[in-house]
Amino acid sequence: MAERRSVVVRAPAKINAVLRVIGRRDDGYHDLESLVLPVSLSDTVTIREDDHVSVAMFHVDGRPMLLPDPASNLAYIATRSWLGARANEGRAASVVVEKDIPMAAGLGGGSADAAAVLIGLNRLWSGGLSKAKLASVAEGIGSDVPAMLGGGAVVMRGRGETVEPVEAATTWWVLVSHPFPVRTVDAYGWWDDEGATANVALDDALDAVRRGDPHELSKWLWNDLQGPVARRHAQIQVVVERLLDAGALGAVMSGSGPTVAGLAADEQEAERIAGRIPGAIAVSAPPPPDEPPAVTPRPG
Ligand code: C5P
Repeated sequence: MAERRSVVVRAPAKINAVLRVIGRRDDGYHDLESLVLPVSLSDTVTIREDDHVSVAMFHVDGRPMLLPDPASNLAYIATRSWLGARANEGRAASVVVEKDIPMAAGLGGGSADAAAVLIGLNRLWSGGLSKAKLASVAEGIGSDVPAMLGGGAVVMRGRGETVEPVEAATTWWVLVSHPFPVRTVDAYGWWDDEGATANVALDDALDAVRRGDPHELSKWLWNDLQGPVARRHAQIQVVVERLLDAGALGAVMSGSGPTVAGLAADEQEAERIAGRIPGAIAVSAPPPPDEPPAVTPRPG
């Protein structure tokens, strides 16, 4: 039997340098405006042609992860969604995720895996879904997935379905995650109870990101979900202050939290700050360029 073909796709985490919640919509979602930056912390997703659809996840050290509800796993949903859009072709694929991105951390790890699956399946079976179809499948999987399909910095609007690529020079960040998850639905619920929309324009942040000017960018870091989440989780403000004390130019909670991203002046500063805070890691945004995923074995 011919060797089964597979493709390995890197799935970078994201941070939200700016996140404004514009308001709650009739469908229960919230309209947003967010500057989303991919970072050099990533899962590795291997997609292999197979007889059945399956998803397995592993810690970076190789230990298998428990998937309490595989059907709600975003990589699994992405596989099913892609195959569903090509339903008449009788294909199936198995997906293995090596998980380095903390889960329910505001870093878009599940969405990154889902986007990687969509990209990988499109590579595996060339002539896959069109760009427009891929974007609409992504939107059906989760609000953050469309923003993560392109691999670059974007401004995200609507509930996440409107994505505009933006130019971004490299900036350096320190990520501090927490040992507790925050469910996205809860963060938005708390915003409904007591949140507000900041009166900040994205233009200044966009200009600073385009120029790679961390000093300027640090003035515009903002997240409307941070107040409501930090009032329930006092650790968040403590970590913001630790980052600033250690020399970060600014610090902001990413997404629905609880991860806090501190902005550093440069790579050396990021490493130095990360070395002062237990569990912190230094990352670049965006990650260094990657080889496009290659299918192995190559068609003969
Ligand atoms: O789209 P996703 O499944 O990732 O969203 C999870 C939950 O987060 C939604 O059910 C909704 O409660 C909330 N959410 C929201 N507005 C967004 C994105 C997510 O209210 N733009």
